[in-house]
Amino acid sequence: MEKIKIIGGDPLQGMVKVSGAKNSAVALIPATILADSPVTIEGLPNISDVRILGDLIEEIGGTFHFDGKKAVIDPSNMVPMPLPNGKVKKLRASYYLMGAMLGRFKKAVVGLPGGCHLGPRPIDQHIKGFEALGAKVTNEQGAIYLRAEELRGARIFLDVVSVGATINIMLAAVRAKGRTIIENAAKEPEIIDVATLLSNMGANIKGAGTDVIRIDGVEKLSGCRHSIIPDRIEAGTYMIAAAAMGKEVIIDNVIPQHVESLIAKLREMGVHIETSDDQILVSSNPDLKAVDVKTLVYPGFPTDLQQPFTSLLTKARGTSVVTDTIYSARFKHIDELRRMNANIKVEGCSAIITGPSQLQGAKVKASDLRAGAALVIAGLMAEGLTEIAGVEHIDRGYSNLVEKLAGIGATIWREKMTDEEIEQVKNA
Ligand code: EPU
Repeated sequence: MEKIKIIGGDPLQGMVKVSGAKNSAVALIPATILADSPVTIEGLPNISDVRILGDLIEEIGGTFHFDGKKAVIDPSNMVPMPLPNGKVKKLRASYYLMGAMLGRFKKAVVGLPGGCHLGPRPIDQHIKGFEALGAKVTNEQGAIYLRAEELRGARIFLDVVSVGATINIMLAAVRAKGRTIIENAAKEPEIIDVATLLSNMGANIKGAGTDVIRIDGVEKLSGCRHSIIPDRIEAGTYMIAAAAMGKEVIIDNVIPQHVESLIAKLREMGVHIETSDDQILVSSNPDLKAVDVKTLVYPGFPTDLQQPFTSLLTKARGTSVVTDTIYSARFKHIDELRRMNANIKVEGCSAIITGPSQLQGAKVKASDLRAGAALVIAGLMAEGLTEIAGVEHIDRGYSNLVEKLAGIGATIWREKMTDEEIEQVKNA
């Protein structure tokens, strides 16, 4: 086990390059199950979620050759092997194996997914979609069993706007007989990316990126080459770090439209931002203003940036209120920020931050992926040494985070934890 150490206070300057989108990658890889020949995906992030999904692809008989950026996946010899336990429990996105295996084999057994603990994360809308397409779905001892004689297109209205359910239903529907219409679909850029891959494989999908998606089933999908979109949450994380500590930082390989809600909030705080085709320049301002933020589905402010943004707000003058309408319990980072001298209280699904506070370095623990990003940003802002445990959460979603931040001037490194430290963290 490793920890991240940061000596805060260094100004950030230079260029940081964003990797491919984690939340696309974890859907694109399962989507390849639906093809009958090799698929190449370029620009994948080198993160543990990608490597675990690669292992799962191999467990069901596929091959997964990954060089840290490009993966070549051969699904031709895959079999509908049950995956009730083991690695499926390590990540949330293993639920995409349900839709993809159901779509290809008309059956699947997949353990209930793991992932970050952000409060309740039901998958009832995924199951509603599978059932509408003709699958029988049962939950037996923590694994979901799916089986269908045949899948038939259906009209499905999502009761909750869900990224996962929208993608999972697309995966199950692309090889179903007839037309599927998903209404009240999620509109995140990752959904368009998955629809683009499936279309390149031969699927017939219209409307991805709007709230009505129409899919006409096809009999066969074939291999292709696909280039993933940049990670808007990773880009946002570095933009927030730059707003906190940057002189002038250029975020490279970003689609500025994907982070418009964050750009608007940073400008409201007094941060100077310039955008071009695929870069964003962030120049900070020592006197930042407090702002209120409410997380919403895309194109609203993303819940995945709520935690890092909270760290930044400790530096702003006045009182800010951050409300998470997507995950009511996504506030595990707050206790850790308080240890670092932040003045924050949680009321219901809101964090109330009063600033500015000069954060102080401390020993803290990341409880989930974006809490980890929030603590790294806090560590960059703090006086003295911050030690962050729970680095495995950060490794699930950020490719080379330490190297990228060191590259723009941060004093940050990784160290092995001693046995005693591991014991302390486990008991905390
Ligand atoms: N929901 C339901 N029923 C369902 C599905 C979702 O009630 O069947 C609720 C959830 O509880 C939540 C809301 O709907 O309140 C939105 O959940 P959604 O299904 O959109 O989330 P997800 O697909 O499980 C993805 C990302 C998350 C990100 C959310 C919201 C992946 C693998 N995960 O999760 O990313 O927070 O969308 O944008 O794509 C992260 O990257 O740190 C992360 C957690």
